[in-house]
Amino acid sequence: MKTTISLIKADIGSYPGHSRIHPELLEKAAKMLKDAEGKVIIDSFVTHCGDDLELIMTHTKGEDNPQIHKLAFDIFTACAALAKEKKLYGAGQDILSTAFSGNVKGMGPGVAEMEFEERGSDPVLCFMADKTEPGAWNFFLYKIFADPFNTAGLVIDPGMHDGFIFEVHDVMEKRKIRFRTPEELYSLLAYIGAPSRYVVKYVFRKDGLIAASTSTQRLSLIAGKYVGKDDPVMIVRSQSGLPAVGEVIEPFTIPVIVAGWMRGSHHGPFMPVGLPDANCTRFDGPPRVICLGFQVSNGKLIGPVDMFDDVGFDRVRARCNELADVLRAHGPFEPHRLSMDEMEYTTLPLVEKQLKDRWEPIGK
Ligand code: 13P
Ligand code: 13P
Ligand code: MG
Ligand code: MG
Repeated sequence: MKTTISLIKADIGSYPGHSRIHPELLEKAAKMLKDAEGKVIIDSFVTHCGDDLELIMTHTKGEDNPQIHKLAFDIFTACAALAKEKKLYGAGQDILSTAFSGNVKGMGPGVAEMEFEERGSDPVLCFMADKTEPGAWNFFLYKIFADPFNTAGLVIDPGMHDGFIFEVHDVMEKRKIRFRTPEELYSLLAYIGAPSRYVVKYVFRKDGLIAASTSTQRLSLIAGKYVGKDDPVMIVRSQSGLPAVGEVIEPFTIPVIVAGWMRGSHHGPFMPVGLPDANCTRFDGPPRVICLGFQVSNGKLIGPVDMFDDVGFDRVRARCNELADVLRAHGPFEPHRLSMDEMEYTTLPLVEKQLKDRWEPIGK
């Protein structure tokens, strides 16, 4: 039996503003998933990171299954209706279309899925972020699966000594490419160092075993205008020939700067937090990430464990706060504000439109 994990998320309304999901929405989603257990899905867990509602589902139907996507769509639609009733902020934000046609991809929600034959023991980590974009995972996936200074197993575990394969998606041109590491490290980095365009979608071990899967949906590219950031999710398998759990979460001790934050228009530090802190406040942020750890056992989710709820991550949180102060002091100046080409996908072009007739040519 192959098990599939589907991690599907959407911002369907929050309070106040873009801070957090209302508990009644969480309850509604959890109940609808419980009702589906034993029918469409095996097991489920509902959580949120900031204003994004996350559905973690296990089943045997594979990736892109219409029944699973329909279940997620129905839950998001029902929660959006409840959010509208309460006049929550941005109610229905990520539901760009009401006509379901077999798959929620391209409709607004973010999707990370992976199907695998369960090993003797299968630890799985689900990462969920708010106030950033899918490419935010690039740095961490590189550290986890390609950097021997992070992952000791790359050097000393014969099970992963051959390295990994990264599938990179170009979200602008809608094309993909695979890089083998360590031999093509520099080519991989040539692309994934530009995370607004090139996004790691999957990581495989060289023997084909699936190791990581991310959401790559870019909302503004789907909607054709700014509607919110595409706060991403990621699933990573671990241990026994894959990076250990501790190797997977270790890179999050580095305070990496990501795009997102206020109005999806600013760079800010990516802060790992425990579930009680998964609420965006300061300047609608800072961008943050949670990680829930499970053992997957015959499709059942044993867990979760709140992985960043640990004093071991206090120092990175303090460094993130310091960086937040430094960046915030820049106000509307780059590099706090995104570069002009990235601002094209925000509301700034509307301001430029208002001013376009005021510009005069500079004479010689
Ligand atoms: P409003 O213009 O509705 O205040 O939205 C700003 C914002 O939060 C952008 O997502
Ligand atoms: P979200 O993408 O999380 O909805 O945030 C939008 C925003 O504009 C925050 O300031
Ligand atoms: Mg929102
Ligand atoms: Mg969000």
